[in-house]
Amino acid sequence: MSQELWTAVDRYIAELLMPSDPALEEALRASADAGMPSISVSPPQGKLLMMLAQMLGARRILEIGTLGGYSTIWLARGLSEGGRLITLEVDPEHAEVARENIARAGLSDAVEVRVGRALDTLPAIEGPFDLIFLDADKVSYPEYLHWALKLARPGSVIVADNVVRKGAVIDAESRDQNVQGVRRFHEVLAAEARLSATAIQTVGSKGYDGFTIARVL
Ligand code: SAH
Ligand code: DHB
Ligand code: MG
Repeated sequence: MSQELWTAVDRYIAELLMPSDPALEEALRASADAGMPSISVSPPQGKLLMMLAQMLGARRILEIGTLGGYSTIWLARGLSEGGRLITLEVDPEHAEVARENIARAGLSDAVEVRVGRALDTLPAIEGPFDLIFLDADKVSYPEYLHWALKLARPGSVIVADNVVRKGAVIDAESRDQNVQGVRRFHEVLAAEARLSATAIQTVGSKGYDGFTIARVL
């Protein structure tokens, strides 16, 4: 079982189930050209985010961690008619590339990119959101979860990316602050009676990782 195989299977899934998509492909190209890391969600993961939004009939989506707006475009495409998405990004250059990518995808009217540390911009955000996607610095995931709950309503769904970290999530002694962040995130989740959650391990073009999905009761 190897990275090479996981990548090949992701390609197989994308080729069969996801027709060529110039706006998304251009978003990845522009992000790479701008020197941004290739850590966007994979195409199959992006489509899952879109489908979750569609299944929820989402009218309002919040994303924390924009990068070049690849996941943003998928999520915004899942919005119901007239819906709006706000995405939070600390790096002004990432935000600028994201705005261009979002514009090329024809989604500028539906999407707002807010620049600043998410913990600084969150207090001015007004909920409720139907779907909240956490994908910024993993160290702050516990705080992001508190904010997500504050900005949600019963029935809202919170998705958090990169919560398995090659399995390191079970290492209580890990000195990796990202690992400690996702561990505390799950502890907050477990202690929170207003949330029902599961986590799914994944392999694919982005290696071995996973995502957590929580539903607000
Ligand atoms: N969701 C994107 C990938 C996000 S990568 C996609 O799948 O396409 C994580 C992003 O979070 C980076 O752009 C990084 O600059 C941003 N980030 C890191 N710390 C942050 C913070 N404190 N507040 C807001 N954004 C942050
Ligand atoms: C990293 C961040 C992500 O959101 C991701 O999906 C993969 C990697 C990172 O910071 O390395
Ligand atoms: Mg991620």
